[in-house]
Amino acid sequence: MGIASAGTVTASRFDYYPVPPSRPVPDLGADLLHGFALSPRRLPPKYFYDAVGSQLFDRICDTPEYYPTRSEAALLAEHAGELLALARPRHLIELGSGSSRKTRLLLQAAGQLDLELVYWPFDVCHDMLERTGRALVEEFPGLRVRALGGDYMGGLTHLPRPDGRRLFVFLGGTIGNFDELETQRFLGDVRAQMQPEDRLLLGADRAKDAAVLEAAYNDAAGVTAAFNLNLLRVINRELRADFDLDGFRHRALFNRAESRIEMHLVARTRQQVLVAALERSYRFEPGETILTEISRKFTPAMLEAMLARAGFDIERHIEGGERLFSLLLVRPAGS
Ligand code: AVJ
Repeated sequence: MGIASAGTVTASRFDYYPVPPSRPVPDLGADLLHGFALSPRRLPPKYFYDAVGSQLFDRICDTPEYYPTRSEAALLAEHAGELLALARPRHLIELGSGSSRKTRLLLQAAGQLDLELVYWPFDVCHDMLERTGRALVEEFPGLRVRALGGDYMGGLTHLPRPDGRRLFVFLGGTIGNFDELETQRFLGDVRAQMQPEDRLLLGADRAKDAAVLEAAYNDAAGVTAAFNLNLLRVINRELRADFDLDGFRHRALFNRAESRIEMHLVARTRQQVLVAALERSYRFEPGETILTEISRKFTPAMLEAMLARAGFDIERHIEGGERLFSLLLVRPAGS
């Protein structure tokens, strides 16, 4: 399965392995057909991250309003050693690794503890994996990187299962992008991969003052707005659609009842959009919205319930003095 059969083996400490999904993963066309049939219309957030969108996301992380990245990085910088000493992993498997910015904090701490680690970044973006993986083996002389190319929402049953303790890592608060059902499915998939001695390190954003949350998704420089609107450019390119980016505006608000930020694209005028690849056109009334992202914000009780339901016990909950963000080290229940 996977590991011995395929992959570009280089002379270096970097390898790449494609990971086939265990269940069918819908493409943008299927997701749009489905999501635009709902009311209000919606799209999954994963399509934000083309080359332009990924750059815009990195710029969001540098805006003064967007605190999650900095909060999580500060918690990791302070507690990485302690977390690794508890988990003592041989393998670090990061789901949705992106540019592995924060992972470096874990890798540095592993070096200080003399843990010999194999790092398995798992991401859909092959180019990013190549670039980041090769840079990391240069930067960390003892490190092996075995990059895994695939979609983690497509299931994890085809992940390699190397011997030795494994620490699964899911950072950034991306768990908040999933609704309750997707969350339980995702956590259940991770749980099903784990042996009693394996651990999961999860980053989750916290419920807080609505003004702080809404500012984080409405930065003054307009980077989040550009990020949201870029989704229409992705659809135009991938599905030969004719969305007018000036015809929509960005809106983000905190839905207190659901404890989540919602990002919308709001039609400014009455308009009709052709999606040529789907042979469909869609009419928008002024003020009509597309829900492009939810980002759930958790209380400690919500985190405990979510994890217990998925079969995890919390081993360590790190939240820092300001309690803006949580890092949770969790283990299979009863182990
Ligand atoms: C990468 C999913 C954690 O939900 O805060 C940032 C994405 N969207 N600003 C988040 C995002 C708008 C981000 N995650």
